Amino acid sequence: MGTNALKGSLYVQNAKEISYNRGVAIMIGDIVKYASKRVSTFGKWFSNSKSEEMKSFLKNLLFDIDKNHRKEDRYEEDGQYFQSYKWLHNENFESDKFLHLMRWKIKPSDVYRKLTSNIPFNPEGIALDLGCALGLSTIELAKKFSFVFGIDSSFSFIREAKKKTSELGVTNIEFIVSDILDLPFRIKYLTLYLG
Ligand SMILES: C[S@@+](CC[C@H](N)C(=O)[O-])C[C@H]1O[C@@H](n2cnc3c(N)ncnc32)[C@H](O)[C@@H]1O
Repeated sequence: MGTNALKGSLYVQNAKEISYNRGVAIMIGDIVKYASKRVSTFGKWFSNSKSEEMKSFLKNLLFDIDKNHRKEDRYEEDGQYFQSYKWLHNENFESDKFLHLMRWKIKPSDVYRKLTSNIPFNPEGIALDLGCALGLSTIELAKKFSFVFGIDSSFSFIREAKKKTSELGVTNIEFIVSDILDLPFRIKYLTLYLG
């Protein structure tokens, strides 16, 4: 927390706010603008906050948040794409009509495995997965590199990605909510970008 922070090999410079909500790292240059586009997600942050410190931090933001902004992000939990991504990426892929029609016995994770199959194993390398969504590609990258950062602007997707990796016991991934077009940090010694 603060204006400058060091976390592992991640150097955060001039970050306006760094906050943690249910274990999800949020590194956003303009948190008010971010929350204004995700009012219902913001409401869930508030209702799920356990510490008084976090509640008071969010309460202070409330004054500036544009509550009339009705354009919710499509990738948030109440958005247009969240449920279908979650449905397809989890246990229901076999009933996907398109895959069924194509008679493909293929899981989404097979696609990501194929995608990363030509990437050489680099046990000292660090990779960055831009727009990682539910983290399927990030999980595959984590098999090739010592550490992977998965970045996505959707809080809900990152929360799901974290849930999935903790179920799988994967420990060499850090998921961060951030805007890939305006990253508030630098990562030194990066070996690979996937976007
Ligand atoms: C089409 S999905 C692709 C997901 C993933 N790469 C995959 O192959 O499954 C696009 C993703 O990019 C994220 N995204 C879009 N614009 C972004 C931005 N400016 N910064 C961070 N993430 C962004 C969305 O939240 C969404 O999860």
